[in-house]
Amino acid sequence: MYFNNGVNRNVSVRKTVFPNPKDIQLRVAAIGDIHLSRLVGMNDVIQILELLKEVKSDYICLLGDLIDSPTVLYDSRKVDELLYLVEECSKIAPTMIVLGNHDFINQEILGFPSVLKDMSIWNELDSIKDVHFLNNTTYTDGNVFFGGYLQPRESYFVEGEKYQRDAGPLYDDLKKQRVLLNDLPSDMVKILLTHSLEYLGDTRIKELLVPAYNLVLGGHDHNGCVPTLIDGFWPGNGGIISPKKQLFPKQVRGIVKADSCLYYVYSGGWSKITACAPSALQFLNFFCDPQIDIIDFIPGGQYQTENKRYVLRKHW
Ligand SMILES: [Fe+2]
Ligand SMILES: [Fe+2]
Repeated sequence: MYFNNGVNRNVSVRKTVFPNPKDIQLRVAAIGDIHLSRLVGMNDVIQILELLKEVKSDYICLLGDLIDSPTVLYDSRKVDELLYLVEECSKIAPTMIVLGNHDFINQEILGFPSVLKDMSIWNELDSIKDVHFLNNTTYTDGNVFFGGYLQPRESYFVEGEKYQRDAGPLYDDLKKQRVLLNDLPSDMVKILLTHSLEYLGDTRIKELLVPAYNLVLGGHDHNGCVPTLIDGFWPGNGGIISPKKQLFPKQVRGIVKADSCLYYVYSGGWSKITACAPSALQFLNFFCDPQIDIIDFIPGGQYQTENKRYVLRKHW
């Protein structure tokens, strides 16, 4: 099996600092693209939980693609792993969840992939204490504001073609999400969680987001599958391959300053080439460590990010 689903794995951690308008220091830990599947299971969950305990964040954000396909939910063992992951996260810190395309769209169907009809598993997670499934809803505790945007199927796929190549459907849907965009608090950090940042460079979408948020945090791009050894040395935001299987995509990695006070954070993801991807590409996983983000909001702090990643080796 290509994927080391065992012990002694390195995990790359990117640390970033942003200023906090409030006189309080806050830490957010973010993990995207876990992709529970036949290749990713309980060993990964345990590693993630150990790591989260170690970094001691005030909030945990799970950025979608928790599972590799809705069909994973047919396997009760995988459902147990998902529930265990989320429940244990919530015992460490309040846990925000947004869904990714793999969580509710069956991509194995060509044409216009089908949407999961029964969302009960995700709503069940929302009922766990300190778990907040942000399905076009928001969370605030007075110290930080999270909006969670569930991007519609049309923003990922086009009927008759495989992938969406236009920002229009995302813009049309996002502008309707008034609770995510209007009357947001002004005295705290505001973070939008959404799975894919692919079309967020679109001018109309930026016009919606700039007045509302300080930070947009997403996953989906799996760090462009850039090998860990060259990730810190390869400047810019390009990658090797995108989720659409496009070679050398331009913007899939790193942190992008979208405006003087709005940053887009591309979280690299736990998984890279996943169980449902072409097996010929899966060798890339040997070269790409799982990644998480730690973001500190510090009063009077200056934006800075360590583009080189820490590599933590721990014997779990
Ligand atoms: Fe993903
Ligand atoms: Fe995704």
